[in-house]
Amino acid sequence: MPPAADNRAIERIAARYPGRFHAGYARGKLRHDPVFAAIADWLEGDDQPLLDIGCGLGLLGQYLRERGWRGAYHGIDLDAPKIAAAQAAAAALGGFDCVTGTVPPLPPGAGHVALVDVLHYLPHESQQALLREAAQRLAPGGLLMIRNVLRAPGWRFRITRAEEWLIRSLGWMRAAVRHYPTRAELEQPLRAAGLEVEVAPLWRGTPFNSYAIVARRPGSRQAGGVAAALPARGSDTRSVADR
Ligand SMILES: C[S@@+](CC[C@H](N)C(=O)[O-])C[C@H]1O[C@@H](n2cnc3c(N)ncnc32)[C@H](O)[C@@H]1O
Repeated sequence: MPPAADNRAIERIAARYPGRFHAGYARGKLRHDPVFAAIADWLEGDDQPLLDIGCGLGLLGQYLRERGWRGAYHGIDLDAPKIAAAQAAAAALGGFDCVTGTVPPLPPGAGHVALVDVLHYLPHESQQALLREAAQRLAPGGLLMIRNVLRAPGWRFRITRAEEWLIRSLGWMRAAVRHYPTRAELEQPLRAAGLEVEVAPLWRGTPFNSYAIVARRPGSRQAGGVAAALPARGSDTRSVADR
């Protein structure tokens, strides 16, 4: 369970959504998905701008603000109703903007990039193009923080596929799954772009085959490199309560 301070932050974010559905979704997602705390940890002390591709309701930007991150947050998503909800919820936050759009291509800019649970909605060729563009967009020391299901044998992958079928059938997800990437398909273009890459499970408390793929452009920030940003190999990342 998240600590009390996190619970208060989560309640503040959920209260910004007028509808019960979005408020409940925001609360559940922020309480149970470890990716938000993980990204806040990775960005700690680095306020370079963040492009959040497939930002949905803009939860990541709002959570980062609650954790004290002060960089400019730019979200982009093809789902116009979700973007409208994100804009309304974060209207009072400075340095926060979300736009409706389909990627690739990416909007211009430099800094960090987040891709949380988005890549499998793109066909293989578009995934590769997006990874190459995202790599070019990283500033020195910038992080490309991917969380995605990976194609692999085993029950976690089967459960993830079933969940994707369910959320698409319920109408929550407008985009259909196009291609589940393998770990090698994600790592190869990032290493070819000269990035340092680390991969680790990021599924704490969930049954999904979710992994963090964190790539760093060599440069001034984070003396420890990307390995220092990730949990120990083989673990499923620190819990929110472990911070
Ligand atoms: C599973 S949701 C994740 C939302 C958000 N990243 C989060 O973790 O809360 C995936 C999002 O990616 C968006 N998406 C899928 N394909 C996209 C594309 N080609 N361009 C922009 N957004 C896309 C969907 O509309 C959806 O909001």
